[in-house]
Amino acid sequence: MFNLEKIPGIDALRTPCYVYDMGLLDSTINALRDSSVKYGINVNYALKANSEPEILRKIASYGFGADCVSGNEVSRAIECGFPKSGVFYAGVGKTDREIVQALECGSPFFVVESLQELEVLSSIACSRAAEINVLLRINPEIDAHTHKFITTGTSANKFGISVNDLDAALNLLGRLPGLRMQGLHSHIGSQITGMEFFSAQCERMNLFIEKVRSAGFECSMVSLGGGLGVDYDCPDTHPAPDFDGWFSAIDSSLNRTPGMKVFVEPGRSLVAQCGTLLSRVLFVKHNPARNFLVLDAGMNNLMRPALYGARHSIENLSASGRGESGFEKYDVVGPVCESSDVFAGDCSLPVSLRGDIVAIRSAGAYGATMSSRYNLKDLAETLYV
Ligand code: LLP
Repeated sequence: MFNLEKIPGIDALRTPCYVYDMGLLDSTINALRDSSVKYGINVNYALKANSEPEILRKIASYGFGADCVSGNEVSRAIECGFPKSGVFYAGVGKTDREIVQALECGSPFFVVESLQELEVLSSIACSRAAEINVLLRINPEIDAHTHKFITTGTSANKFGISVNDLDAALNLLGRLPGLRMQGLHSHIGSQITGMEFFSAQCERMNLFIEKVRSAGFECSMVSLGGGLGVDYDCPDTHPAPDFDGWFSAIDSSLNRTPGMKVFVEPGRSLVAQCGTLLSRVLFVKHNPARNFLVLDAGMNNLMRPALYGARHSIENLSASGRGESGFEKYDVVGPVCESSDVFAGDCSLPVSLRGDIVAIRSAGAYGATMSSRYNLKDLAETLYV
């Protein structure tokens, strides 16, 4: 249960509000750093999960690099203290303007996702008399058995260079001026809970690394993306994810050679559990078929349930102070004019009243970053505790 005592002056708190527990963030980062040191794996934090400056400054202070997917993420990462030498610019659709923005910021590594992108990068490098360091993102054709909207490594997905095009990409790299091959990248999806998928990914990467080497290129950097899942059902039981399990799967499956630097790009696993979306009950509505709790937070603040049918643990924080008053089943919904604006259907909660504070847990990743001002609603407030 979210501890309301962490928030002084709760009555005056403007909701909806993202509350970030910076102590929990610290301990999660520490756990990640310990595992990464133990297994000799480098960490680039994926900004897309949460790009609040205060959170970025904290993560950067641990010496991690950054995985960015837009020119603005590159700028934000550097502004918030990530070392330029650790900023990777990835993304399936980089505009020419973003490529120049990233180069001007000093982002040294580009993760490339198509043959055409190699040509564009080469011509921009030449026009600036620069050299661009390149990692090829390969689509490894591995189904990570996660939600279909967040699986990325199958041939039906838009991401990465197809295995069939790896030879052609290497050929281009050999011919095009201005590009320096550094290594390979792959990412198979997100919210992955079975370590065997990461092992399978590494085994595929071993084949690709061989291919790169036999074509006469160095493969000194290998990035395996992010994807480690978190426990959305029991955030208090598992506040930190199994970083050791992830890294040991990599360690035992990837053929590492001396001098090869291995990277991961965790997003969700680092920041999901430290964030809670606090909201007030606006209205309790009883229709013939359903009971509704209408919150002041909506899908514009946290779109994961509407977009993926994602379940987040929901708690009524005010009801516990009222003593035993029984439970009721509610559809917990937002105020947005869309029928999909539902956080949870048939959610068993203590009998709830207008004005109650509700916590939507594990909202630190892909919550604030994916929010919008649909219906011209305000964005949620932000509080660090
Ligand atoms: N690297 C690459 C290339 C990625 O595409 C992603 C996530 C990550 C790293 C970070 O993955 P993570 O460690 O966070 O799983 N909005 C969705 C998740 C989209 C993930 C997109 N790519 C959600 O709310 O579940």
